[in-house]
Amino acid sequence: MYAIAIDGPAGAGKSTISREAAKRIGFLYVDTGALYRAVGYDMLKSRIDPADEKAVCTRLPQIEVAFGYEDGEQQIYLNKENITANIRTPQVSAAASAVSAIGQVRQFLFGQQQNIARENNIIMDGRDIGTVVLPDAQVKIYLTAAVEERARRRFAELQEKGIGSGFDEVLADVKKRDENDTKRKVAPLRQAPDAILVDTTALDFEQSVQAVLAVIKEKIGQEII
Ligand code: DC
Repeated sequence: MYAIAIDGPAGAGKSTISREAAKRIGFLYVDTGALYRAVGYDMLKSRIDPADEKAVCTRLPQIEVAFGYEDGEQQIYLNKENITANIRTPQVSAAASAVSAIGQVRQFLFGQQQNIARENNIIMDGRDIGTVVLPDAQVKIYLTAAVEERARRRFAELQEKGIGSGFDEVLADVKKRDENDTKRKVAPLRQAPDAILVDTTALDFEQSVQAVLAVIKEKIGQEII
């Protein structure tokens, strides 16, 4: 099996770029952020502070988070309920970032990420895929862009969905998540030593997909195409 790990900060376009690249090479796309979002969503629903480590860990045994696929699109289930449509709000983003700093939460979600990689050719995106979850991935990419550009993209995405956050609020949110994700003690966001850097600040969507595909081709093109 082949594993392509794509890590990077919030709003770099990881999920849309990874999904499209996966489609073009016939690999399964796995968005691991959805797992952390599912846990964060559950805590909000259960009225538990996502930053309260003890309370979150007490709740964990009562929840089951699972991946699924419908028409090739990843779905996320919380206690068997499909919550895919509920996990993209700014509140859930903040909750996901908070719970993702808790070691037991990461441990709780670790096995599922490894299992899906064992059974499929995948492009998996996240924060610690190349460093922790799949250290033996044949291809590792660190996908990033300047923080203002990332905030601009996130803002446009939210507007499209009719979620009315202001730009300043979105920028502050992206900066806060960068800080949480890079400074946490367990599995912080960082570029793996053997990951190739792809900076999409000046690239449009198609150029970004091409940049990612170029890295994949260079590393494993002979074998998969
Ligand atoms: O990629 P995303 O925005 O959906 O991720 C939501 C949160 O989950 C993000 O703040 C960081 C965390 N996350 C993580 O810690 N490790 C991953 N592999 C994926 C996401």
